[in-house]
Amino acid sequence: MIDKKIAKLINEQVNKELYSAYLYLDFANYYEGEGLDGFAHWYQIQAQEERDHAMMMRRYLIDNGVRVTFDAIDRPDKVMKNAQDPLNAGYEHEQYVTSLINNIYAEAFAIKDFKTMQFLDWFIKEQGEEEKNAEDMIRKFELFGHDAKGLYALNQELGARVYTPSATGPAM
Ligand code: FEO
Repeated sequence: MIDKKIAKLINEQVNKELYSAYLYLDFANYYEGEGLDGFAHWYQIQAQEERDHAMMMRRYLIDNGVRVTFDAIDRPDKVMKNAQDPLNAGYEHEQYVTSLINNIYAEAFAIKDFKTMQFLDWFIKEQGEEEKNAEDMIRKFELFGHDAKGLYALNQELGARVYTPSATGPAM
């Protein structure tokens, strides 16, 4: 069994991760509508990864005797006026998620819940990668996305992303 406050925070984080999946699928919907199928594909895979994050947290709670409960998932409400808007919104969102994970980690540290800290270590590292990926996308778009040929090549590159469940992450 884990501390009630920690359990509540991780349970809330399950909802936030599912929201992340929903948000990235919304980005994919936007790009599908714009004919940028590679960008859409990239975010569809990102949504799968977010669902995996939710599943890892759900499993951790269950394995520690916590009854998991679900809340409604918020409606994605980012306004996307051009192809760079989702990239900027994605980066901002990942920074927000990092702050949430850091907060749970700080709470676990405060009560010496070493088990939860160890569980969260993977997510701390993952957030570093997610923020870097989001920043890289913006940088590439700024370099190549404003020219038709560059945008075509970038769309092709993003369309080649392959979904692979994490080999190192917590159990689902
Ligand atoms: Fe689950 Fe993108 O953080």
